[in-house]
Amino acid sequence: MIRYLSKASTKTLRGTALLRLDFNAPDGWRIEAALPTVKFLLRYADKIVILSHRGRPKGYDKELSLEKDALQFKRMLGKKERDKVIVLENLRFLAGESKNDVRFAKKLASLGDYYVNDAFAVSHRANASVAAIAKFLPAYAGFGLENEIKNLTDVMQKPRRPLIVILGGVKISDKLGVVSYFKKKAAFFLVGGALANTLLFSRGINVGDSLREKNSSREVRVLAKSRKIILPSDFRWNGRKIFDIGPRSEQEFKQYIAGAGTIIWNGPMGVFEKKEFSNGTKAVWKAILANRKAKIVVGGGETISALKRFKIYDLRFKNRRNVFISTGGGAMLEFLAGKKLPGIIALNKK
Ligand code: 3PG
Repeated sequence: MIRYLSKASTKTLRGTALLRLDFNAPDGWRIEAALPTVKFLLRYADKIVILSHRGRPKGYDKELSLEKDALQFKRMLGKKERDKVIVLENLRFLAGESKNDVRFAKKLASLGDYYVNDAFAVSHRANASVAAIAKFLPAYAGFGLENEIKNLTDVMQKPRRPLIVILGGVKISDKLGVVSYFKKKAAFFLVGGALANTLLFSRGINVGDSLREKNSSREVRVLAKSRKIILPSDFRWNGRKIFDIGPRSEQEFKQYIAGAGTIIWNGPMGVFEKKEFSNGTKAVWKAILANRKAKIVVGGGETISALKRFKIYDLRFKNRRNVFISTGGGAMLEFLAGKKLPGIIALNKK
């Protein structure tokens, strides 16, 4: 059984909280997402020690220091609150973290009285501060993690039909687990981004020199033939490379999205960092928000960065209780593929 922080007796929250967060995002949105848990703990705990990581360093790397994140994080807190919070340096500077080393986890655990995981985005990693640490202390799932589990489980187990899954980004291999889990449940998969190129190529459509996965597996070739897979029918080109879905595809995708009862979206439709190729991703998000009845789950690091960039990310707060923004990238994909995540398994105690 997972112990949720939201149900914990506040008496048990005194002392020092060890709080695992995920600061591994370019513009601080994962830190913002953790604030409700931090603010709640600040009311009861004497001290909070934040555990986090950035990148995949091999030993110390100044570039990947959490110093700036710590400052940014502390600026979000009141003056008194700040004094109660300590942010540890990037745990991945130490080999024990990525090895899920039990001795290292025990040392970390000795810094606090209880442990809270509010880092869904790294919960698919068997890391010491995510998994092994929970053996040594009372362990809770923070508010963010609880919301992720609840919202993602909802769309997996009881989606309102029809369910539409929208997939973009680069690698099809990263998304195969999700496609396989939803193969029967989803009415359609709308596919854009470079991963569509792999499927288009497999259907014999000319993709020029566009990014695609070469040597695609049999699974991908079978998928390309499925009638549930809806691929773009026109494109915005950059030379001989597809950089975005085209205007006709935007309209076609819009029709599917308008009729959906549940929408799951992970991965941008094009090279959204360049303004002239951001239309597809923007159009999909606008179409999603225009469907006011559907249950909506959106996630993936790049997807959120795109929405932030377009300054339309915060729209979710405007009376849109049906929109859930997941903080997970790989974690969201693994969860939606039906895998059990080590960080969540670790919280599951008798
Ligand atoms: C992420 O950004 O998806 C998480 O922080 C996990 O990072 P990792 O893929 O380097 O383990």
